[in-house]
Amino acid sequence: MSSSSVTQPPETAAIIGAGVCGLGIGWRLAQAGCKVDIFDRAQIGQGASHAAAGMLAAGVETEPGELDLLALNLKSQAAWPAFAAEIESASGMDIGYRDDGTLVVALTRDDERQLRFIHEYHRKAGIDVSWLSGSDARKKEPCLSPRVPAAVYSPHDHQVDNRALITALAKAAKRAGAMLHPGHSVDAVLVDGDRATGIATSGVRHAADAVILAAGAWCQTIEGLTHEAKPPVRPIKGQMLSVQMPSAIPILRHVLWAPGIYLVPRKDGRLLIGATNEEKGFDETITAGGLYTLLDAAWRTIPGIEELPIIETWVGFRPGSRDDAPILGPGPIDGLIYATGHHRNGILLAPLTANLVSRFVLTDELDPALHPFTLARFGEPSDAAAA
Ligand code: GLY
Repeated sequence: MSSSSVTQPPETAAIIGAGVCGLGIGWRLAQAGCKVDIFDRAQIGQGASHAAAGMLAAGVETEPGELDLLALNLKSQAAWPAFAAEIESASGMDIGYRDDGTLVVALTRDDERQLRFIHEYHRKAGIDVSWLSGSDARKKEPCLSPRVPAAVYSPHDHQVDNRALITALAKAAKRAGAMLHPGHSVDAVLVDGDRATGIATSGVRHAADAVILAAGAWCQTIEGLTHEAKPPVRPIKGQMLSVQMPSAIPILRHVLWAPGIYLVPRKDGRLLIGATNEEKGFDETITAGGLYTLLDAAWRTIPGIEELPIIETWVGFRPGSRDDAPILGPGPIDGLIYATGHHRNGILLAPLTANLVSRFVLTDELDPALHPFTLARFGEPSDAAAA
């Protein structure tokens, strides 16, 4: 939004994408009295928000070179308990928030050396993690393979049931007054001069004071944006599956990372196993190779999964930006605000995205935490080409 314009909170907002980001922002805007319409090409929350595993892993998912992202992720992680409680109270639903922490295990001496390296990096970055021997790890998780030589425990990396979260957020947003429009593919953002004026869906124009682009991996398919206003976001395919744990003896309690996989035990006994990372566009194929890789790694980590029934397989598309970090806040078109590119961290970043992007929409003030994450960081297209 331009600095010369008189700042008035928008009376109407059109949100493109009813995933965790679009719903969270819509909920906050509706709570503030804005008339909100949320459009989605499919059913509510059926994109990356449905496919995700719901890990709130600001700590153990941090990789070297991601200190700005770590700060953002930690801020959102800290907001999660209050956000979860508020959604549960607004919706009357349990969203499966679990605070058991996360274990990262090595399976070989080689993995152990690698884990030691990343553990040192995490400690120096100020993340609260502790080193465990193999036998201490098995005290926390008795079904771990006897081959596990060492592990790291991260007490603040938790999980939420992302599918329950979406259902609850949609309910909370509707109760606050937001209108949801599933099955309404947005063809274009309407732009008049240098200002967004609404969206078009199936040829029907819908005027809005603010337009929020929260369409995840599908952002590139929206017309009406100049090259520099299109966020550089692409789909990164992930295949996953789930098995059913015996209710009397859940074979896992913590979220668990092992080389090549993660395992996420749900309160209802499902055990999620994920995920592949594939650059295959919107290819929805579930492959023998993808499932084999996941099951082999899971079986080597927890041999007891061998007899468990497979209950579901699925594919999701992470919205990956050029630097794997989200794109949040303003861009080159007044009134068009971005909330996309969350890559592996969409569920983790849900509270921060909802709170800070909606605040920007309402006040035109960009929280300093978002400064490193606007679209402007990618520069002009000519700069990118020269780089
Ligand atoms: N954050 C988990 C994944 O992207 O697979």
